[in-house]
Amino acid sequence: TAARLTVDPRFAIGPVRRRLFGGFVEHLGRHVYDGLYEPGHPEADGRGFRRDVIALVRELGVSTIRYPGGNFVSGFRWEDSVGPRAARPRRLDLAWHSTETNEVGLHEFSDWLDAVGSDLMLAVNLGTRGTLEAIDLLEYANVPGGSTLSQRRIDNGRAAPFDVRVWCLGNEMDGPWQLGHRSADDYGKLASRTAKGMRQLDPSIELVVCGSSGAQMPTFGDWERVVLEHTYDDVDMISCHAYYQEHDGDAASFLASAVDMDRFIEAVVATADHVGAARGSAKRIDISFDEWNVWYIDRVDAVKPTAIDDWPVAPRLLEDVYSVLDAVVFGGLLISLLKHADRVASASLAQLVNVIAPIMTEPGGPAWRQTTFFPFAITSRLARGHAVRLPLEAPTLDTARYGTVPAVDAVATVDDEAGTAALFVVHRGLEHPVAVDIDVSALGEVEVVETHLLHDDDPGAANTLDEPERVRPRAVETRLVNGILSVSLPPVAWIALSLR
Ligand code: AHR
Repeated sequence: TAARLTVDPRFAIGPVRRRLFGGFVEHLGRHVYDGLYEPGHPEADGRGFRRDVIALVRELGVSTIRYPGGNFVSGFRWEDSVGPRAARPRRLDLAWHSTETNEVGLHEFSDWLDAVGSDLMLAVNLGTRGTLEAIDLLEYANVPGGSTLSQRRIDNGRAAPFDVRVWCLGNEMDGPWQLGHRSADDYGKLASRTAKGMRQLDPSIELVVCGSSGAQMPTFGDWERVVLEHTYDDVDMISCHAYYQEHDGDAASFLASAVDMDRFIEAVVATADHVGAARGSAKRIDISFDEWNVWYIDRVDAVKPTAIDDWPVAPRLLEDVYSVLDAVVFGGLLISLLKHADRVASASLAQLVNVIAPIMTEPGGPAWRQTTFFPFAITSRLARGHAVRLPLEAPTLDTARYGTVPAVDAVATVDDEAGTAALFVVHRGLEHPVAVDIDVSALGEVEVVETHLLHDDDPGAANTLDEPERVRPRAVETRLVNGILSVSLPPVAWIALSLR
């Protein structure tokens, strides 16, 4: 079986914005405490941040990081997390049934972001709080000085504003599990009021309104329409969230998860454009895909504490171990995001350390890369310039969930200024290798600079505490003859090639 792709820079989709390679840090499980922050660890710096984790986050290449939740944010009082540490309250986090010590708050997290070289994206609590608290946080974060709240920031040790550019208006307000969950109509009104107030204070910020927490939600589609009818003129982006997992051993459908992501993005774009058309608006609403990953979500309830006297600090929650199969699906999701670079203006991998994460740590022990680390780090490093659509002829696969889908999916990026290009290809077939021929003649004289193949004869192989380097991408042989670049992909494989 063979697949044929053509790279032609004239089929540009949109710019590769750095924000597409964002992350997400939630106060959840061992993400912050006993994750990126562990004062007693031999690798800890003077502030308690693990240097080995900082190095891995830098290697991952994460742009903007969404913070501090997630479901956590809907019960969060931001004032708890600033000021003298000894005076900060211990709070019960209802979302994850844990104790939040507030030892790491806005200032500490911002110091950590400086160390990893990423920007801050803040979510405000629209679950149990409202417009005033959101405006207060914005004043604290972005106003240079001269007011009580900006002065409080200065007194707390931060003279320059945090200057947070992107703000999320709550989190997953469509989900019945969300503290303060409400209807699209109620949320749309609250989000509109809050957005208007925040813009009165700082018109330069970008705002993200909550879309659905998944395309499978019963209110999906209507939620987006109603929320945008209230907020169209007030916001810049609407959020998408999607998590995928293998159900009942159906690897074929799982491998085709990116087909679902494609359809999800296209449905939200169509809905947003419909609202814009009905309003006669020339404005365009983009997507912030601010939670995406592979997540074995069904396993959460088994480990989440529930008893009234059981509110642990930093319990082990959502510590999924990712296989090669998971990482190939994950690489396909990155391809889907790049294929929609015209409308997906920002994306956040959920999450970063220990919690459904590409980076794992052991308290007092090592930090290591999960399988999903590799497609993210490689794509973030190589994808530059413009995303380019690749016309594709490929064998097809039948899947129970998504019907008949191409066995191969791909996207390219072309950086005219640097004179470089990159190709990202996923092979979703489970049985046979596929010979891929890529016509790169439109790029002119090029040569292959880097190749990275993610595949293992055991698709279940993973990196663990005992075997942290079991899986790594490897170089692969390619042939480039008369403008045709040929490579053979084994079943269940993801590959990145860079050209110059
Ligand atoms: O990322 C884990 C959780 O998934 C987040 O807290 C929530 O927003 C989503 O349901």
